[in-house]
Amino acid sequence: MKIIIINGPNLNLLGKREPNIYGNITFESFFKNLQEKYKNVDLEYFQSNIEGEIIDKLHQVGFEYTGVILNAAAYTHTSVGIGDAVKAIQTPVIEVHISNIYKREKFRHESYIAPNVKGVIAGFGMQSYELALLSFINQ
Ligand code: DQA
Repeated sequence: MKIIIINGPNLNLLGKREPNIYGNITFESFFKNLQEKYKNVDLEYFQSNIEGEIIDKLHQVGFEYTGVILNAAAYTHTSVGIGDAVKAIQTPVIEVHISNIYKREKFRHESYIAPNVKGVIAGFGMQSYELALLSFINQ
């Protein structure tokens, strides 16, 4: 089982960025724990602040991997290109958000990704990623 977590813009700053919303652990340390806990899953991580790089990564993994866990961050609310890429690939994608986007500003309520994904998990902090992973494991 090959699963990739793809994180979008500014998520490289997790741990430092608005800790009241996003918490104070780095994604790297969270990811290490996740890999330890789910040793029998081939778990990969990719982060980019660049829209096209996220699209390229989706194309690269999207006909091969078991699942994609995608937090497109701000691009969730703006990117027709990422939405189209998710639609174009065969690998199922779960959209995740650390915060509950529906509790926040109105512009965060719209997702260009959501219509093309298996499901959306939002608002559970870093646990959102683990819940998505469990959904792939239990399928
Ligand atoms: C986010 C929510 C987005 O609205 C925001 O732009 C992010 C992070 C989240 O994980 O809660 O950068 O995707």
